[in-house]
Amino acid sequence: MRVKTKYLCQECGQQSARWLGRCPGCGSWNSLVEEPVNLRTAPGSSSVSGDVPRPVTEVPVQEEERFSTELGEIDRVLGGGLVPGSLVLLGGDPGIGKSTLLLQVSQLLSRRMQALYISGEESMRQVRLRADRLGELSPGLLLLSETDIDIIERHLRELGPPVAVVDSIQTMYKSDLGSAPGSVGQVRECAAQLMRLAKTTGISIFLVGHVTKEGVIAGPRVLEHMVDTVLYLEGDRHQFFRILRCVKNRFGSTNEIGIFEMSGSGLIEVTNPSALFLVQRPQGGVPGSAVAAALEGTRPLLVEIQALVSPTGYGVPRRMTAGVDYNRVALITAVLEKRVGLNLGSHDIYVNAVGGVKLDEPAVDLAIACALTSSFRDIPVDNGMAFAGEIGLTGELRPVNGVEKRVKEAFKLGFSSFLLSGQSALDHNAETGILTADTLAGALELALRV
Ligand code: TYD
Ligand code: MG
Repeated sequence: MRVKTKYLCQECGQQSARWLGRCPGCGSWNSLVEEPVNLRTAPGSSSVSGDVPRPVTEVPVQEEERFSTELGEIDRVLGGGLVPGSLVLLGGDPGIGKSTLLLQVSQLLSRRMQALYISGEESMRQVRLRADRLGELSPGLLLLSETDIDIIERHLRELGPPVAVVDSIQTMYKSDLGSAPGSVGQVRECAAQLMRLAKTTGISIFLVGHVTKEGVIAGPRVLEHMVDTVLYLEGDRHQFFRILRCVKNRFGSTNEIGIFEMSGSGLIEVTNPSALFLVQRPQGGVPGSAVAAALEGTRPLLVEIQALVSPTGYGVPRRMTAGVDYNRVALITAVLEKRVGLNLGSHDIYVNAVGGVKLDEPAVDLAIACALTSSFRDIPVDNGMAFAGEIGLTGELRPVNGVEKRVKEAFKLGFSSFLLSGQSALDHNAETGILTADTLAGALELALRV
């Protein structure tokens, strides 16, 4: 029997029995989404525990139990392992490596426990061939090629594996709804059903979600607020690094990243990313390059910042950035003009963080400024120096957090000196190799030896 459905405007809540291009209530276009009538639980609701109100002091405080996924980088990003009964969304552009990563995790886990990998995109044979390339096969890994969410639920309830992967949410559908797989109504219903399933059975479910053109998972960020954890797999398609980033986590912090390197046999964990990011650094001091000591979560990351400043041939100067914030570079350029006296107004400016990482911390300001000045003046930056410092609008150099970690990482990788703000709470003298400056102009003198 087909369940009755209704169409609900996502803007104003107006209901309609059939689909309309324009909402009669608020007049917005294309805002009606199909939903089943008489849901026992509202979509997105995960309250299935039947809890009653109780005093805060009597709520148990022990941490959730977690189990390891066997891949340390994923465990780190999840906040120390996978929580039983959690729903984890893995988002990313098509072809970035989501299926590969989760198949690898399933394969590693299947040595210890049952893991069910459900693919709606590939046949079982295709998945098996892919698994063959990724590593040893174990009968603990079960494959299923299915797209009907009710059949998937039945299999999951019958088998009760500790871990399951659903690849991808855009291919799943609920037959009660008339709309096509991948539509907002379908995606939301299927995810809500998996959420209820995870909570009632304790199965941890990884959900793959392709990022659509607009950069959101399946249209309006419908999935992000429903699931427990949201991870994104990022990277430049032409680079061999993949970065796993956590943007939401009900069970831990969100600022950890995991770094992987692509290979013919799947993703390989990178335990020392700084060394990898610096491996192609030009030797012997080339103008326009400076090394930033960034901090991603609790982990320091040394990244080379490259800048190219060249006279504008004709028209408006071009400004381009990759891996660093465009507006931040504009601000640093303005400070360099006004406070240091560099005439950058008639120059094209290109800034790039090498290796395909995205750095959005203000702590990389100083390295950007050094790279820009170095390129403009055609003088190399001190090759053995690493940088961390935020630049203020009056040209002052501000302290950054976690200096000890940054400095330690830089010295571990063979840098002989480290330049930071004079206000940093750190012991500095010539012996330790730690140099300080209070202004950007002062810092540039030290970095470029001018
Ligand atoms: P895939 O996992 O299918 O991407 P997604 O599920 O995000 O769409 O990976 C895309 C292609 O890249 C696939 O043909 C396998 C290949 N690949 C490797 O060869 N090595 C790797 O380490 C990864 C991650 C992918
Ligand atoms: Mg895939």
